[in-house]
Amino acid sequence: MTTTGMSELEANLASLATRFREALANAADERALEDARLAFLGRTGAVTEIRKGIGKLPPAERPGAGKVINDAVAALETELVAARTRVEQAAIARSLEDTIDVTMPGPPPDLGAIHPVRRVILDIARYFTRHGFAVVLGPEIETDANNFDALNIPPDHPAREGLDSFYLRPDLVLRTHTSPMQVRAMRKHGPPIAIIVPGKAYRRDAIDARHLFMFHQVEGLMVGRGIHFGHLKGMLLGMCRELFGTGTDVRFRPSFFPFTEPSAEIDVSCPACKGRGGECRTCGGSGWIEIGGSGMVHPNVLRAVGYDPDAVTGWAFGCGPERIAMKRHDINDIRAFIENAPGFAEALA
Ligand code: DAH
Repeated sequence: MTTTGMSELEANLASLATRFREALANAADERALEDARLAFLGRTGAVTEIRKGIGKLPPAERPGAGKVINDAVAALETELVAARTRVEQAAIARSLEDTIDVTMPGPPPDLGAIHPVRRVILDIARYFTRHGFAVVLGPEIETDANNFDALNIPPDHPAREGLDSFYLRPDLVLRTHTSPMQVRAMRKHGPPIAIIVPGKAYRRDAIDARHLFMFHQVEGLMVGRGIHFGHLKGMLLGMCRELFGTGTDVRFRPSFFPFTEPSAEIDVSCPACKGRGGECRTCGGSGWIEIGGSGMVHPNVLRAVGYDPDAVTGWAFGCGPERIAMKRHDINDIRAFIENAPGFAEALA
């Protein structure tokens, strides 16, 4: 009878061990192992049921039975630890397999794209250098003498007030346009001269959809014997066709600048509606877009740099790359150029 009780207990233990090992072998993760531990070895687990059988044995056999059970549990716990190690290592191996494939090509490097404003400048520069012009750069801090006086802009001109310009000192200003480079270039080189000057200019404007206080301009200047307005028209027509396509028309609208006489505003046929106007939002329905100013260099400007206005004549123009890029890409808020939105330049390239 007692032998039967004991062997039954041992048989139950053996069966529990078999089922426990099976559960360990099938466990794919920590969680399954823990479930097995609770189900077999935990307080409310199968082993507790077997322990309850001790009470049915004759008192003399009970300590022995307790030891048999404890030994069996200890052995199973050792197996559990081994199973844990196996599961952990499998998880590590799997995670290495998942994430590191050393044969896989890396993601392509992000090369970026040329900013649309810079592209306009590069396009203009390419066109003019092809025609023999030099590209020159000048300082952004300029004397007010170069920025204004030498360009025939009188002392009482509104642009000279601190309201419109950033003055650093009474005699120094952040250039309000690239035109003072006409003065610097002509003082440095005698006629003939043919240059373009890309660069930044500054005006005391509040930022909105159409204004930045720092923006770009490209200045052009050609001076020599017999230079006339026809040369200006021909060169600018070519430039606009380079920028907006061969079908583009150009219109010169009479205007006024202190440093040119006569002066003209440069309009191109709208790239969006091809000059048809109507409901077009890009040109506001006029069919034309203003891209800059131009004219024949004023005799006072030639005199200011020591050129003889009776011997040489010249044309000049200034245009705004931001404005040109906006019309090229149908961007209606100039702030887009300085916001650095990821992918902005790439999308327009
Ligand atoms: N400097 C003028 C401006 O900032 C643009 C300009 C007009 C430049 C006529 C020129 C020119 O060279 O001839 O508005």
